Amino acid sequence: MADAQDWTGIVAAATRAPSIHNTQPWLFAGAGDRLEVSFDPRRALPVLDPTHRQQVISCGAAVEFAAVAARAMGQDVEVEVAPASDHPDHLDHLATLRVTGQRAAGADDRALAAAIAARHTQRAAFADRAVPTELVDQLQAEAGAYGVWVETLSRSDAELTAVALLSRAEQVEQQDPGYRAELEQWLRTDPAALDGIPVDAVSGEDPATRPSNWLVRDFLVGQRAAGRPPAAGDDDDPPAVQRPTVLLLGTDGDDSRAWVQAGRALGRVLLRATAAGLAASPLTQALDWPATRTRMTVQLSIVGHPQMLLRMGWPTTPGRETGRRPVAEVLRPVE
Ligand SMILES: Cc1cc2nc3c(=O)[nH]c(=O)nc-3n(C[C@H](O)[C@H](O)[C@H](O)COP(=O)(O)O)c2cc1C
Repeated sequence: MADAQDWTGIVAAATRAPSIHNTQPWLFAGAGDRLEVSFDPRRALPVLDPTHRQQVISCGAAVEFAAVAARAMGQDVEVEVAPASDHPDHLDHLATLRVTGQRAAGADDRALAAAIAARHTQRAAFADRAVPTELVDQLQAEAGAYGVWVETLSRSDAELTAVALLSRAEQVEQQDPGYRAELEQWLRTDPAALDGIPVDAVSGEDPATRPSNWLVRDFLVGQRAAGRPPAAGDDDDPPAVQRPTVLLLGTDGDDSRAWVQAGRALGRVLLRATAAGLAASPLTQALDWPATRTRMTVQLSIVGHPQMLLRMGWPTTPGRETGRRPVAEVLRPVE
């Protein structure tokens, strides 16, 4: 049985989870052998994520990080996902972690836990080297344990469609003043910021000028210093074309429970990939708004619901660590 002190270390690991715009929309309450994980509506993104779907996914990733950390600390844990709530205002309690006993942590537990600190969203170009198919098989199996399916979109017929939908969604979002204001609200120039996206974690270049079919989200819309594009002399080789592996994660259902499960699977996939030396960055522009998300479901003939698009590959530069709020701000004792 864990006491309140034990939850501090586990919650510190949980807060390293990725979250949309690094909003960290989670709250934890620890009591004895239970840790409750809730959504914090005060950290909502009303324009980008009106249903809170991506924030609940973020909380699900935090649940998985907590479970991985607990197992590596020698605790057996069970996760109980709260019953579905499709009312956006009643998403408070999402999941409970319960310590059920002690265990001897194995090498795999330790490798996954070490990946918690090593993982960072990597938006830069990846090396021109394929993601091993055995690893993708493993990611599919591990996500499958949470009822989440994983498909590779790269080099499939679906790729062209998804690429076009993503580019169009990015364009439509950029034209929305509310979307741009929200982006700006979560962009940070202070390197010591405890939340939000540090400007140096995103490319200063316009993502549209990259030699890549997949467009990463542009966090600097309207703020990029008007500069000349890098001059390419006649003798310069053209930049290498980037064709990252892109994985689509989806679920059969589409309620808060399915979103928590999608987040747990995302957390697991990211830690497994990091432990294998890979890096990733979500590409969720075409899934932000219900209408564009429905378009993707229809045009890709998806049976079920798309939850996450993940660009994955071998990193060529170290990832940038982003800030986190201290545990004391997010962990409360159960009343
Ligand atoms: C549900 C979800 C959606 C995200 N969507 C995007 C995205 O569209 N583009 C992007 O560059 N990063 C995206 N991210 C990554 C977050 O910006 C990132 O997790 C956050 O800034 C914290 O940084 P870290 O992952 O390096 O710890 C997303 C993360 C989550 C959990």
